[in-house]
Amino acid sequence: MKRLFATIASRGVHGAWLEQTIMPTHLKRLVHARMEKTGESYQQALRHVRAQAPDAGAADAPPSQERIARSRTLADTAFSIAVVRAEEATRPDADRLFGDPYAAMFAAAGTHVAESTQRFLELPFFRDGVRLRTRYIDDAVRAGLAAGLDQIVLLGAGFDARGLRMPEIVARSASVYEVDTAEQLARKRKILAAAGLKLPARIAHVPFDFDDAAFEQTLLSALEAKGFRRHAGAVFVWEGVIGYIDRDAIERSLRFMASAGGPRSRLIFTFGEGSFVPNTAAEVTQQAGFTSCEELGGDELWHRYLPGEAHPHAFLMKVGTAVV
Ligand SMILES: C[S@@+](CC[C@H](N)C(=O)[O-])C[C@H]1O[C@@H](n2cnc3c(N)ncnc32)[C@H](O)[C@@H]1O
Repeated sequence: MKRLFATIASRGVHGAWLEQTIMPTHLKRLVHARMEKTGESYQQALRHVRAQAPDAGAADAPPSQERIARSRTLADTAFSIAVVRAEEATRPDADRLFGDPYAAMFAAAGTHVAESTQRFLELPFFRDGVRLRTRYIDDAVRAGLAAGLDQIVLLGAGFDARGLRMPEIVARSASVYEVDTAEQLARKRKILAAAGLKLPARIAHVPFDFDDAAFEQTLLSALEAKGFRRHAGAVFVWEGVIGYIDRDAIERSLRFMASAGGPRSRLIFTFGEGSFVPNTAAEVTQQAGFTSCEELGGDELWHRYLPGEAHPHAFLMKVGTAVV
């Protein structure tokens, strides 16, 4: 287990681990060859390989079957998060960080990916990382609502059920826009429908692929078609997504959020130690149009929400809130 953790730690967040699992073999070979030759980390080597051979990147132009399979695998990662959120309900009241009564039904629909879900659950920091980030984001969404924002955009929404489960969103009559692939959103509706649930009108599904070349205009049009008001202020949640998209898509997304939301908007996001290397999260968000960025490491989160003994593992995950 110690060795497994050391390997993961040297390579970055679990997104990088997943990337390696599903990456085309020829790209994997190039990345590992570069790591051996230069001593670079996995993330650094991948960035160089992609820069030198644009057609080698998984997100750049793989064969369509491969691309479809990759998209399905990424979508399936949402089940492992649902499992952790479902487990929260089994903890004693005093230990519970949040309540998600919808998580169990999403988790139960993921039996076809039980093996890969188990691999995530075995990562030493995965469970606590998901628990802590969920609570941090809930608190930050509440703070955004209290500051008067009434549009919430979940980018890479997966099985995030905040629009259904957070009473503060309902009390504020806030609109929730869930952005994910068409396939993932359809799957979410199907799971809800099987439990006799239908999305209320205040929650809109916006099918979208972050690899879309015309990202900024296309996504804005898609959101506006569902009622989003540009520049009226918004809370963007970007949870567990950065590890799965490339640097271009990260920067495009940040620019989009800063400009579409407009003044007072805020972005709540999770990332890994290596996500913005050689820059910091503050630098990258600032370049995209945000003016400030709070950043918390996993250990700080642990001490904030689970005071007491230090966690036995180092946390690689970080969370942040950037404000326009
Ligand atoms: C790890 S899940 C996180 C889900 C959710 N944010 C949460 O924390 O519960 C990642 C989500 O990002 C979505 N995603 C990944 N790459 C995407 C892309 N290129 N376009 C649209 N959605 C994408 C996946 O379909 C999946 O639902």
